[in-house]
Amino acid sequence: MEISASILSVNEEESVHTFYRLEIAKVDYFHIDVMDGRFVEKDSQENMKKYADNLKNITNIPLDVHLMVEDVKKYVDIFSPNEPRCITFHYEAVKDKEKIMELINYIKQYSKVGISVKPETNIEVVYDFLPFIHNVLIMTVEPGSGGQELIPETIEKIKTLKKYILDNNLDTEIEADGGINLSNINELKNAGIDIAVVGTALIEAKDYKYMVNKLKE
Ligand code: DX5
Ligand code: ZN
Repeated sequence: MEISASILSVNEEESVHTFYRLEIAKVDYFHIDVMDGRFVEKDSQENMKKYADNLKNITNIPLDVHLMVEDVKKYVDIFSPNEPRCITFHYEAVKDKEKIMELINYIKQYSKVGISVKPETNIEVVYDFLPFIHNVLIMTVEPGSGGQELIPETIEKIKTLKKYILDNNLDTEIEADGGINLSNINELKNAGIDIAVVGTALIEAKDYKYMVNKLKE
């Protein structure tokens, strides 16, 4: 299982030092939480663009861009120059099947593509797109901020999706995002996730290497 470090809560002054510590701790990805102040209340776009630009000069660890935005194409154009590994947009921001397929193909010009679903969205909505995408980002908290508690009901969605992927011989990766820590990581692993996004539990740990190793154990 891989760890994608959410840098949403990293504060400006310590950001370079924090990024080096995360690199040394060997996180697998840096998770860039782009919020436009419309799809979610918070607006993190300036900060996340600055961090994405800085990271390019600090590390080769790939970027995992999570777009919590209404105008998906606009932010694909802003972040594709950062050469991310994957760009993930929200099903709830688009909904229309044609438009979703268009965005999948648009993003594929630049990176892998993922679809994210909020806690209350049925996991079945992504089934039609699975053959065309690399990743499903299952929100285990309501998108919009870090430091929230994981919503236990979302774990069932991971199990359901995992079963569907296996039953249909698909190889789409499952990523969980929000409120993940040492107390729930094993349940998530057993439910079938391939990648865990970890923000607060990692950024606030005193020893990043220890925390990453424990999470991966
Ligand atoms: C929430 C973001 C998550 C969040 C994860 O909208 O998508 O990536 O920052 O941070 P923690 O681990 O603190 O919930
Ligand atoms: Zn996220």
